[in-house]
Order: sequence, then C-alpha cells, then structure tokens
Amino acid sequence: TAPGLLDRHGRLGTDLRISLTDKCNLRCTYCMPADGMDWMPPPSLLTASEVVRLVDIAVAVHGVRDLRLTGGEPLIRPDLEDIIAGVRSSHPDLPIAITTNGIGLTRRAASLAAAGLTRLNVSLDTIDADTFRALARRDRLADVLAGIDAALAADLHPVKVNAVLMRGENDDQAPELLAFALERGLDLRFIEQMPLDGDHGWTREGMVTAREVRELLSQHWRLVPDDVPRGGAPAELWRVLPLDTDPDSDTDSGPDSDPDSDSGPGRGSGPVADPDAAPGSRTDAAEPLGRVGVIASVTEPFCSACTRTRITADGKVRSCLFSHEEFDLASAMRSGESDDVVARMWQQAMWLKPAAHGMDRPGLDSVDYVQPDRTMSAIGG
Ligand code: GTP
Ligand code: 5AD
Ligand code: SF4
Repeated sequence: TAPGLLDRHGRLGTDLRISLTDKCNLRCTYCMPADGMDWMPPPSLLTASEVVRLVDIAVAVHGVRDLRLTGGEPLIRPDLEDIIAGVRSSHPDLPIAITTNGIGLTRRAASLAAAGLTRLNVSLDTIDADTFRALARRDRLADVLAGIDAALAADLHPVKVNAVLMRGENDDQAPELLAFALERGLDLRFIEQMPLDGDHGWTREGMVTAREVRELLSQHWRLVPDDVPRGGAPAELWRVLPLDTDPDSDTDSGPDSDPDSDSGPGRGSGPVADPDAAPGSRTDAAEPLGRVGVIASVTEPFCSACTRTRITADGKVRSCLFSHEEFDLASAMRSGESDDVVARMWQQAMWLKPAAHGMDRPGLDSVDYVQPDRTMSAIGG
C-alpha cells in the first residue's frame, strides 16, 4: 500500500492530534460532566515512548506535518516535557503545539519551550471570575490568566485563545474578552459549541452561532475579512479595526453588511478579501488592532477540507471527532506488531473517515443524531 492517511473522500490526514489524558482539573460544562466520569485506567494510557513511536510512524510513513498534543488537560501529564523533547529529538522541524487550559504554565512554560514546544492554544471563555467558576465549575481564573502571561513571557508566540460562548452565560462578555485579547496580542477565536458535552445538554438554540458572534463584535469594532489562505484550518479570521475607521464607506463587505445573505463573507471556503478595497485604500491603510477568529464548526462546517487524524489517550485512532469506530493502535504496539502493521491499521481507520459530521442539518437535536459516547475531554479537543 502507498503511504499516507487517505480517506474514501479524497482527504489526506496530515495534522496529527494526540490526546495524552482524559483527565482535567476543570469541569467545563460543554466538555465534561460535573462528576461521575469513568477515567481511563492509567495502564491504558499511551506512555511517552509510545507517543514518540506513533509520531515517528506518522511522520516517516504517512507524511504527517503537524503535531498537536491535547487532553483532557495535557499539563496533567508530568512527562509532557519528556514527550515533547522525545519527539523533537528526531523531528527538528515538526511544529509541536498543545491545547491547554493554561493551569500550571506559570511553572512549566519555560521548560516546555526548552523541550521544543512550538506554540500553544489556551482555552478561556471569560475574564469574569464568577462566570469562570460557573462555566468551569472550578475557581481557577487567576491561574489561567497567570498561565497566559507565562506563555507570552516564554516567547511561545502566537498564543491563541479558544472561547466557547454559551447563551445567557458568557455570550454578553464576548466584547470584553476580545478587548482583553487585543491588549495582550493574543489571537482569540470564538468557537461554536458542539454536542460533545458529558451531560448531553447541547441544544441548537443554546449554541451561539458564528454569525451572532460577528454581529455582536461588529457593534464595537469593524471586522474586515483577513485574506491569508485558510487551508484546512477551522478558524475564519477577521482583522479588527476601530469602528470609526472608514465610517462613510458603503462598499464595506464586513460581517454586518448583509446579515441575511447566505453567500456573504465567512461562509463556504473561508474569508474573502474585501472586493472593493483597492491597495492603499482606507480599508487597507488602517492599522488593525489585531485579529479575531470564528470557528463555525456547526453552521459552516469545514469537514470537506479536514486534514486531521486523532489518537485518543488510550491509543485508538479516531478519524473524526464524530466517528464511532476506533482502531486500537496501543494494543497492536503492545502485542509486538511492527511499525508497518501499525501504520497500515492507522491507514484502515482513516479510510473510513466520515465525509462530514452532519451537524449543520436540522434534526441534530432530534433522536436521529447519535452523539459520540466519548465526551470532548475523552476524544481530545
Ligand atoms: P490551530 O488553529 O492550528 O492553532 O489549531 P486548532 O484550532 O485546530 O486547535 P484547537 O485544539 O485549538 O481547536 C480549536 C477548536 O477547533 C476546537 O475547540 C474545536 O471546536 C474545533 N475543532 C478542532 N478539531 C476539530 C475537528 O476535527 N472537527 C471539528 N468540527 N472541529 C474541530
Ligand atoms: N464544543 C466546542 N469546543 C469545545 N471545546 C471543548 N468542548 C467543546 C465543545 N463541546 C474546546 C475547548 C478547547 C478545545 C480543545 O475544544 O474550548 O479549547
Ligand atoms: Fe478541561 Fe478543556 Fe474540557 Fe475545560 S474544555 S473541562 S479545560 S479539557
């Protein structure tokens, strides 16, 4: 067989996401139940050397070009630095990122950078302590904020921040979160909530859509589509400008120009450049305050361009967040199978990757839609 993680729909898995643990020191409502989680038994978790071996196979055989380590919370692993250093020693140019809640970065940002971490994404849904306690069910906002500062101090740029908005809980705080991010030079992305929570409490009405986010932010800033190519990346990006730039323009194709259009910017293949903005026009000349991303996983799916392949913390391939089959690479490695056999199993798993999650179809919240039995925390975000 030819190498590469190709699926039936012609997509190639080149971005590897490995979850290192299903545990977390927070209990965000959209990700985990308050209690009663059945943690993976510790012996089932991939060891540091198994993680390194899987990355070696992914890169050498399948041409994987990007690595992200996730959780649960990857900083829960005391050997995270060893894992990163182990991967880094044989892959000097491989981008290695983590997605973390930031707790513990004050102690570890420098050692992670020294081990070879390239960059990180921090989850932060609010900068209000009471809201944080309600959403994450733990009183740890100060630790997260200190962690973000530590990441910046360790030069782990860019620091991206992921925010999930929940209607009636933190959606009204989106502007203050963006102001916070702009002040610190953080790349904030707002994410539509997906039905991967532990309590099966997701509803279509509760989900704050990407369009709503754009409209909300447009009351405070002028958003101009960013024209960097998006590739398979989930976030559509907007340049953030003060509201008073270009106030008399009637050619603005920003998100607030035609909220009812289905073909406006931000739909389909990604952001488009302002068609009427000639080089040197006021739109181009204005200095952006920063950028903001919107990840419209549900309403504007990016499945057709998805290049992800995921491994759960217990070593199973998941071709998609929403796939139901899992192929057990950990057991194969532990029963002495060769790299070649493991590589082929991985390929078989990816071949079955679903075309799309189907969440954009109405009826998701009806009985037809089967939510994966693992929560986001157990799949790896
Ligand atoms: P970079 O943009 O490269 O920094 O990474 P990323 O955005 O892919 O990684 P991150 O772990 O920060 O994920 C951000 C959000 O994207 C997650 O919270 C999910 O909501 C969404 N996401 C990540 N992977 C998938 C996926 O495979 N499918 C879908 N539908 N959404 C995903
Ligand atoms: N929907 C969307 N994003 C989620 N995350 C966790 N659970 C969900 C969900 N149900 C996000 C977290 C984290 C990233 C890995 O996934 O905010 O940043
Ligand atoms: Fe923990 Fe991240 Fe899940 Fe929150 S979203 S409970 S921080 S794994």
